[in-house]
Amino acid sequence: MQKLIDELEKNKDLSDEGLLALIGMPLTDIPNIGAAFWPGSLRASDKPPHSDVDRHADADPDRYLAKRADTVRRAHYGTNVYVRGLIEFTNHCKNNCYYCGIRRGNGSLTRYRLTKEEILSCTAAGFKLGFRTFVLQGGEDPYFTDTYICDIVSSIKEQHPDCALTLSIGEKDRASYQAFFDAGADRYLLRHETADDTHYARLHPPEMSLKNRMRCLYDLKEIGYQVGSGIMVGSPGQTPETILSDLRFLQKLDPDMIGIGPYLTHNNTPFANEKNGSLALTLRLLSLLRLLFPHALLPATTALGTIHPLGREMGLKCGANVLMPNLSPVDVRRLYALYENKICTGDESAQCRDCLETRVSSAGYQIVTARGDVKRKI
Ligand code: 5AD
Ligand code: FES
Repeated sequence: MQKLIDELEKNKDLSDEGLLALIGMPLTDIPNIGAAFWPGSLRASDKPPHSDVDRHADADPDRYLAKRADTVRRAHYGTNVYVRGLIEFTNHCKNNCYYCGIRRGNGSLTRYRLTKEEILSCTAAGFKLGFRTFVLQGGEDPYFTDTYICDIVSSIKEQHPDCALTLSIGEKDRASYQAFFDAGADRYLLRHETADDTHYARLHPPEMSLKNRMRCLYDLKEIGYQVGSGIMVGSPGQTPETILSDLRFLQKLDPDMIGIGPYLTHNNTPFANEKNGSLALTLRLLSLLRLLFPHALLPATTALGTIHPLGREMGLKCGANVLMPNLSPVDVRRLYALYENKICTGDESAQCRDCLETRVSSAGYQIVTARGDVKRKI
């Protein structure tokens, strides 16, 4: 396995067989020492007492992989961690994806929308806290017409011309994407969820198609957005082969950001009885992504922080370099429930920024106040 990992690092690519072998390795139980299990960035002071984690690191393929991923991440981004302030501005959604807690079929969810003024006060507060990127995320909510979105986008850019603005509002026509871009949006996040047709149909109702999802992603790229895509790890029906096709699709799309997190089940969805995705596989895929896409922005996602209290710290050690804390008003946070037990939804989380600062430095990295644009290949 070490040989395969070295080859992947050197060539930033590997044969299908090689990738499948790495994806399919037996999964390790991550011991409860949490972040210290991962060797890459351990500082002497972080090591558990009498630890031999470093000495034996190379013997465990996942830890070796994490070490290589961390080395590559440091070569390109040093110890910098970029933060994006996430504003979840509507939990209304016209779609009915089988995995998602805010699907239209979930009748037991209280729905909300933030006003433009509320959104602007989130960005103003976020700016004071040092955020230089804002992500407006929401369900596919027709109440927010293109004109309204453009108005919100241009108002935010007017108030914060030095900030990047990211939209994450789902599938739209090319003309809409163009209008948002012209109004000032810089980036767009749209996970492809899976690049395998059959798997896509297992996750989505028949009115949605992988073809349209891909059309959206290519439109966004052509228009000039910095694009983010990605998958859930361990979604029902996912196999090493579908993951391989995700990696191949991502190589073709060549996005600036790749977001992955474990699939987490939600009681009021058709997938209520499905199992959660795996922490260990999510971390492994993060490291593989870092070696395949050395320059990519890779978030340690909220889902990763939800499946394990130190999930995001471990994600950083396995190659991730972005965090997306919640800037939404605390009283609506629990309503943006894509999955259960989501972190940062209680009163104590009003100050995610401070909490993150401590978490990031405990893992050996530091948050920077910057837009955090992708460092493209030279
Ligand atoms: N578990 C984990 N991630 C989820 N998402 C949606 N529902 C879930 C879930 N149950 C992810 C999807 C979507 C992103 C906004 O959140 O990948 O693209
Ligand atoms: Fe939100 Fe810690 S990051 S409470």
